[in-house]
Amino acid sequence: MSQVVTDTMVRVENVHRSYGAGAAAVHALRGVSFDVPRGELVALKGRSGSGKTTLLNLVGGLDAPDEGRVTVDGLDLSTLDESGLLGLRRDRIGFVFQSFGLIPILTAAENVGVPLRLRRADPREREERVDLLLSLVGLADHAAQRPGELSGGQQQRVAIARALANNPSLLIADEPTGQLDAETGIAVMELLRAVVRSERVTALVATHDATLLGLADRVLELSDGEIVEH
Ligand SMILES: Nc1ncnc2c1ncn2[C@@H]1O[C@H](COP(=O)(O)OP(=O)(O)OP(=O)(O)O)[C@@H](O)[C@H]1O
Ligand SMILES: [Mg+2]
Repeated sequence: MSQVVTDTMVRVENVHRSYGAGAAAVHALRGVSFDVPRGELVALKGRSGSGKTTLLNLVGGLDAPDEGRVTVDGLDLSTLDESGLLGLRRDRIGFVFQSFGLIPILTAAENVGVPLRLRRADPREREERVDLLLSLVGLADHAAQRPGELSGGQQQRVAIARALANNPSLLIADEPTGQLDAETGIAVMELLRAVVRSERVTALVATHDATLLGLADRVLELSDGEIVEH
């Protein structure tokens, strides 16, 4: 497994992904290529069904392409076995989903600490990092509340803090504001924008919301499984 440090965080080359076979096959991605430069916030737009989630799953190592290559942080994902992919997801990638994905019985602080527990971080180090992250997302005063006791925007802030827990190189967010009202959505997007700068992370964010695209360093558009040139 070789790794080269480059200015490119994500490289997607001629990626194809179909679901099913024969006449019933759905060609979700049909030869997609693009780069995400290190340190940038790149938005991915496109209609429902255009292939955004399929693409994010490939970049996040949750799924493999039928054809083509995905390179993340200098690692060609096709060279990694299951445990290599698990390590990549745990150590280098933070995921944020539309549905927040928090554990209901854990407090905000405990949710943020989950990735650190999985890494068996020292408890003191873990607590300090959790405090820092909750402050970063503006929830220092809500550490003891469970997800059901937080607003949608607050829950997504906890999820962003959790995604950052292990200092990932790449943040992948799939419609992180999809369940939020417009104003709260903008606040969450602004938070993502701010953490990309302050935490020196790179982000690839799928979003439907045209008003949120203005915060991105660049916008990629998918249409029917292909990148549309602007
Ligand atoms: N597991 C699956 N099995 C079969 N077809 C699938 C599967 N997942 C996605 N598809 C199909 O692949 C295409 C792309 O889906 P995808 O979820 O990537 O779109 P999307 O851009 O994320 O849409 P949305 O904005 O609604 O989330 C769609 O036609 C979808 O029906
Ligand atoms: Mg989707």
